[in-house]
Amino acid sequence: MIYFVTGGAGFIGSNFLKTFVPRHSEHTFVNVDCLTYSANLMNLEDIQDCDNYRFEGVDITDYEALEGLFQKYSPDVIVHFAAESHVDRSIVSPRRFIETNIIGTFNLLELARHYWKDDYQNKLFHHVSTDEVYGSLGKEGYFEETTPYDPSSPYSSSKASSDHLVRAYGRTYGLQFTLTNCSNNYGPYQFPEKLIPLMIRNILSGKPLPVYGKGENVRDWLYVVDHCEAIWTVMEKGERGESYNIGGNNERTNMEVINALCHIVSEITGKEVEDYLGLIKFVEDRPGHDLRYAINASKMRNELGWEPKETFESGMRKTVKWYVDNQEWVESVCSGEYQKWIEKNYKNRER
Ligand code: NAD
Ligand code: DAU
Repeated sequence: MIYFVTGGAGFIGSNFLKTFVPRHSEHTFVNVDCLTYSANLMNLEDIQDCDNYRFEGVDITDYEALEGLFQKYSPDVIVHFAAESHVDRSIVSPRRFIETNIIGTFNLLELARHYWKDDYQNKLFHHVSTDEVYGSLGKEGYFEETTPYDPSSPYSSSKASSDHLVRAYGRTYGLQFTLTNCSNNYGPYQFPEKLIPLMIRNILSGKPLPVYGKGENVRDWLYVVDHCEAIWTVMEKGERGESYNIGGNNERTNMEVINALCHIVSEITGKEVEDYLGLIKFVEDRPGHDLRYAINASKMRNELGWEPKETFESGMRKTVKWYVDNQEWVESVCSGEYQKWIEKNYKNRER
């Protein structure tokens, strides 16, 4: 089968391709990615010469270019990761989020409708989405698959819109789809604007650790490869037309995460943990900052038999070690456009 993997050069997409391209030589994987600032083809060096891997530098907002790829490859499965994914950027400049996350998804759905309509039963559209579509929890409770959508940021509302479009194409046209809403991922190749890689980078270079508000916000952390395995499980065994919540059952406040990172780095470098903890700096809160995310993943567990393999401790240790060992990667992805964006948008926040 031919798999279109959109956004395959980003954080989760590249972990997905590195896991499944070698494991499934019977399938061909076409990575469709226009290589925005958060992408890096270097992530995929070890699979780039595999016979069952192709790269196509196409922007999903460009309908004609995407149609060319449909004609060239006749995909059987679309695994749709491509998105603008960073909440802070969506607050500063939302337009690209609307274009990529909504129009880009719409383009893929339209092409699936035109090219798959006589054979929907043998095709699959898998949409990779986020738990942020549900909005914020208070101190109690969990996101269920039935929780009403209530997104807070331009990012999460663009993802909510794309989820609705996917379901509408299922109901209206009979498109066979599966959809996953996952909690916060961490692991290798995550662009250092997100909490965990940003903190590791700043700890290692002695820069301030910017904590939004009081650091009391809670996220449910999941190791990225566990997320990729969950997506594969859903595509293989999930019921068509269904959504699945994916989470790590690892709720931590941001302060707990930063504390853990300081301790792990200190164990690795042998330096005093107090020196790292002293870098913590409370900064202005994110507007519309969701207080707490927590996932009830019992549908994944009970119906599909999926369980995360990494604990928070084992996953964090692996991740910190990866960033310590790959500081060249970190500095290369942080040069250029990213630095310009940081200077323009965060100049008063001492990041
Ligand atoms: P990322 O920002 O690291 O990667 C996004 C990828 O999409 C990049 O390779 C980028 O070049 C590509 N892309 C962006 N716009 C494109 C366009 N117009 N055309 C083609 N390619 C384009 O993001 P990520 O963290 O890997 O997230 C991947 C997906 O998973 C997103 O849909 C995101 O909403 C979802 N998700 C992420 C998390 C998380 O914690 N990171 C959790 C749940 C769901
Ligand atoms: O829940 C899934 C979502 O998780 C994904 O859909 C998004 O693509 C992904 O970016 C992530 O969103 P968050 O906003 O939760 O992640 P981020 O790493 O930006 O922030 C995590 C928490 O840390 C959040 O409460 C804000 C806080 N934070 C973040 C940064 C970058 C800080 O306190 N300081 C920071 O510098």
